Amino acid sequence: MRILVCGGAGYIGSHTCVALAGRGHQVVIADSGVNSSSRVMQRLQRLVGAPLSMHRVDVRDRRAMAALFATYRFDAVLHFAALKAVGDSCRRPLDYFDNNIGGTIALLQVMQEAGVRRLVFSSSATVYGDPSQVPVREDAALQATNPYGRTKLVAEQLIEDLCGSDPHFRAANLRYFNPVGAHPSGLIGEDPCGEPNNLMPYICQVAVGQRDRLQVFGSDYPTVDGTGVRDYIHVVDLARAHVDALEYMVGADRGFTVNLGTGRGISVLELVHAFERASGRRIPYDVVARRPGDSAEVFADPSLAHALLGWRAEHDVDAMCRDAWHWQAQNPQGYRSPLRRATTPRVQRPRAVVARLAGA
Ligand code: UFG
Repeated sequence: MRILVCGGAGYIGSHTCVALAGRGHQVVIADSGVNSSSRVMQRLQRLVGAPLSMHRVDVRDRRAMAALFATYRFDAVLHFAALKAVGDSCRRPLDYFDNNIGGTIALLQVMQEAGVRRLVFSSSATVYGDPSQVPVREDAALQATNPYGRTKLVAEQLIEDLCGSDPHFRAANLRYFNPVGAHPSGLIGEDPCGEPNNLMPYICQVAVGQRDRLQVFGSDYPTVDGTGVRDYIHVVDLARAHVDALEYMVGADRGFTVNLGTGRGISVLELVHAFERASGRRIPYDVVARRPGDSAEVFADPSLAHALLGWRAEHDVDAMCRDAWHWQAQNPQGYRSPLRRATTPRVQRPRAVVARLAGA
């Protein structure tokens, strides 16, 4: 299939482009560059082994997006393009509503005009708010506890309304838990702008010497060691889930909503210690007050994704830490670091695709 990947130069989008190409799909990226590096393209091309089309377009720019749909006949759209920092969303909610909700509306309108009726949407476990029960199932109560979460909830709802109005529109809502890690090549990974908001990139920056110490937000939660528990999922598993979801949605001709997590809760200190083992570096930390709005324990029931898609997370927390560290150690300045020789082979393409690319 020919797939438009909105936000394809970002962290999860870029890994998904590799997974799509590895399964023989043709990838066209649209990315505004607001939270991604232009240097990701060079690395993606090295990984994929073929040129990718990249367009610097904001999904809110209807005219530019319509031109893209007129140039290519897309079979489906993967929509990653969004702002994603919870704290930032509390400081500038209107920007989040405009980017994430306005962007989704604009994209859906352009898709409708072009007659493209298949969407895979990047949703988040944030739509469960502070869940009353773990593991969290897809039928748990939905609530937004911050503006970022509201944008994901509203986007899911407006996609659902569109599906209600158009019997041919199919959408897959993928609710991510806590994506971490990087491609094992060390060529692509997470490169946050400024101070990281999330635990794993913060740990990575401490390990590489860019930050002195980690702050552990609270040690008095009713959890295994008092620190917050989350469901960390390797970004390569998450990327594969997008391709599985896309292919299932098209093959079965139906939309769905699934959690994407491992089903296993890991505490902050468990992650810190796993990272220390994987990297051989010590991660000094201070325990400070709880971060407002944080839940004690959030982890997925991922069984629906397995039942529908046959998908299951394969990487454990050691692999997540190993690959996160490999990326950070090879690229201490993220994408601003010089490009080194790749240490693992390119993605394996199916034989038929190799033959097609070779002109057979
Ligand atoms: N934490 C620290 N120190 C830090 C950063 C985080 O102790 O410097 C702790 C948090 O308190 C929490 C855990 O590490 O217990 C994970 O925090 P993250 O910020 O990495 O992740 P969250 O679970 O808070 O949030 C993430 C995404 C959100 C998304 C949510 C969905 O950042 O966008 O998962 O469940 F909405």
